[in-house]
Amino acid sequence: MNRPSTNRPIANRPRILTGDRATGPLHLGHLAGSLANRVRLQHEYDTLVLIADVQALTTHFERPEGVAASVRALALDYLAAGIDPEVATIVVQSLVPAIAELTVFLSMLVTVNALRHNPTIKTEAAERGYSDLTYGFLGYPVSQAADIAFCRAELVPVGEDQLPHIELARKVIRRFNELYPGKDGPVLVEPRGLIGAVPRLVGLDGRAKMSKSLGNSIDLADPPEVIREKVGRAVTDPSRARATDPGHPEVCAVFAYRRAFEPADALNDAEGACRGGHVGCVECKRTLAEHLIERLAPLRERRAYYQAKPRLITDILVAGTTRARRLGDETMAAVRRAMSLEHFPLEGTPPNPL
Ligand code: TRP
Repeated sequence: MNRPSTNRPIANRPRILTGDRATGPLHLGHLAGSLANRVRLQHEYDTLVLIADVQALTTHFERPEGVAASVRALALDYLAAGIDPEVATIVVQSLVPAIAELTVFLSMLVTVNALRHNPTIKTEAAERGYSDLTYGFLGYPVSQAADIAFCRAELVPVGEDQLPHIELARKVIRRFNELYPGKDGPVLVEPRGLIGAVPRLVGLDGRAKMSKSLGNSIDLADPPEVIREKVGRAVTDPSRARATDPGHPEVCAVFAYRRAFEPADALNDAEGACRGGHVGCVECKRTLAEHLIERLAPLRERRAYYQAKPRLITDILVAGTTRARRLGDETMAAVRRAMSLEHFPLEGTPPNPL
C-alpha cells in the first residue's frame, strides 16, 4: 500500500469530498475527469468518496434493487481505480442521516428558479425526456451541496458538468454562514471545484459526452477483448474514406482518447501520420486499444484482488460510513446550535462536542 505523503494525521488535513451516483459502472470519462485527481490527492487530503445512492434514486426510484447492486459495483470500481481504503473514506450516502437533515435546512436558501435554470439539470432532464420534474430530481443539487457541507470539504474533484452544482453549493453555504454565524467562526466551509486534465471526454459515437446512459462508454471494468471491440467501432473522421486520405484528428473520438491517455510526445508523430494520410484509422485504433489495455492493467489486477474478498468490501464500507456519520453528527450539532434548534437536551444524546 502507498504511504501518506505528509505526516499530518489524516483528520487534520484539508478535506476532499467527491462522489458518483450509484447508477452503473465508471468509465474512461470518470477516470480522466476526476478519478485520477482523487487517487493522486488522497495522500495529501483527507479524502471522502461518496457513493450517492440517494441521488441515484432521483432517476432510478423505480429500480432500487439496481441502485443497491450499483453501490457495491461502485465501491469495487473505486478500489480498482486505486482509491486506497487505508487513507481514503468510502461512504454510502443513504446511511448518513446528517446529509438528509442538512438538505432540508439548505433547501430554505435555494429558490426553485435557481434550480430550474441550472444548466446541468436542464441537460439531464432533456436527455431523459422528462417533461415535468420530481421535487427530488429538481432538488438534487441542494442534496449535493449537503454532501459537500456535512463534512466541511474544501475541495471537490469533479468533471466539467458538475461545475454548476459546485457553484450552487458555494452560494448556499455562503448564505448559510451569513445567516447563521457560528460562535467561533463559520459553521460550514465554502468549497472549490477541481476539474481533471480532461474535463469532458467524447463518447464512442462522437457525441459530446461519454456516458453510461448514452451507451457510448468504455468502462473501467471492460476486459481487453471488449476494449478492442469498442475501440474498433469508435467514430473517426467521417471525411476519411481511405487510409491514404488526409485525416483530421480534431474531429476524431479515437484521437481524443489517445490525447487523454497517451504521453504527449508519442502523439505528435501520430498526429502528423494521420494528417499526412500515412497511418489509417484501423492501425491508429489498434495502437489506442493496446495502450488502454495496458493503462487499465493495474485496475484489472486490483479488481480481481477485491472481487475475491466481498467481506473486505463490506468492512471498508462499514468503516467509511461509520466515520462519515460521526463527522456528520459533529457538523449537525454546530448547525443546530447556529440555527437556534438546540431546544433541549434529549436523553441518550451525547453532549455537543463543539
Ligand atoms: N452528481 C455527481 C455526478 O453525477 C455525483 C455526486 C453526488 C457528487 N454527490 C456529490 C459529486 C458530491 C461531487 C460531490 O457525477
